[in-house]
Amino acid sequence: MGLLDKKNIVIMGVRNKWSIAWGIAQIAHDEGANLIFTYQGDRERKSAEELAAELGNTEIFQCDISSDEQIDALFEEIKTKYGTIHGLVHAIAHANTEDLQNDFVYTTRSGFAHALDVSAYSLVAVSRRAKDLMTEGGSIITLTYMGSEKVMGGYNVMGVAKAALEASVRYLAADLGPSGIRVNAISAGPIKTLSAKGVKDFNSILEIVEKKAPMRRGIDREDLGHTAAFLLSNHSRGITGEVVHVDSGFNIMGI
Ligand SMILES: NC(=O)c1ccc[n+]([C@@H]2O[C@H](COP(=O)([O-])OP(=O)(O)OC[C@H]3O[C@@H](n4cnc5c(N)ncnc54)[C@H](O)[C@@H]3O)[C@@H](O)[C@H]2O)c1
Repeated sequence: MGLLDKKNIVIMGVRNKWSIAWGIAQIAHDEGANLIFTYQGDRERKSAEELAAELGNTEIFQCDISSDEQIDALFEEIKTKYGTIHGLVHAIAHANTEDLQNDFVYTTRSGFAHALDVSAYSLVAVSRRAKDLMTEGGSIITLTYMGSEKVMGGYNVMGVAKAALEASVRYLAADLGPSGIRVNAISAGPIKTLSAKGVKDFNSILEIVEKKAPMRRGIDREDLGHTAAFLLSNHSRGITGEVVHVDSGFNIMGI
């Protein structure tokens, strides 16, 4: 029996085969979950469709997470087709390229609002809709990065957005705990994805992690998939409001 047998799990943010969401989807599928994918827009549709077809038995829906109307429509459709959901994976973030290339001090008001809206507020927006469908309790997880805790060159406004995201995880966990819904974040070590390409000198970050992390290696999508499956499953039933680092231990190191 799989860890996630008979669980309906929504996975938001499958863009292509490099996406962390795809790594999580593969393991969740192996663990017996019924998956529901969401993708941002037309640009992402084809590859989301192909990946869903690769797993089989996976429905896909379009949802731009910056639109309340689209979020409402998404959860209405999911309610009609599935009734109940047991898990939700939020693997979505965005900041404007110029805000990752320039020094943080030059972040514009609109760039700051955009990054915080898409990368942090969106978790609050989807959790509010998801809770109504989690009639048997549930588990919500999001993806964050250590740039929320320490200054990481080039991460800039995204670090600020991740700090807001992690604080939102705690407030959501407090609100939703009485309904049997847990909310946690995975703080992932660096992985080459399309989003990561936007971060200056990303390759040198990977090299530093491989050299300095206690486990002397980077992490991969499978590492994240297994932790996500654990957090989505009943095996983590006593855990909520946490930020779990999956980074080969890099975050514990000083000099
Ligand atoms: N790659 C890394 O090194 C790393 C490390 C730690 C955390 N993360 C986090 O993991 C999550 C997934 O990112 P990834 O690295 O897999 O990259 P990715 O580019 O594959 O995924 C990002 C997803 O966000 C979606 N997205 C962006 N704006 C959206 C919007 N308005 N509406 C709906 N979807 C939108 C994209 O379509 C894409 O599917 C992000 O939150 C990212 O910050 C990544």
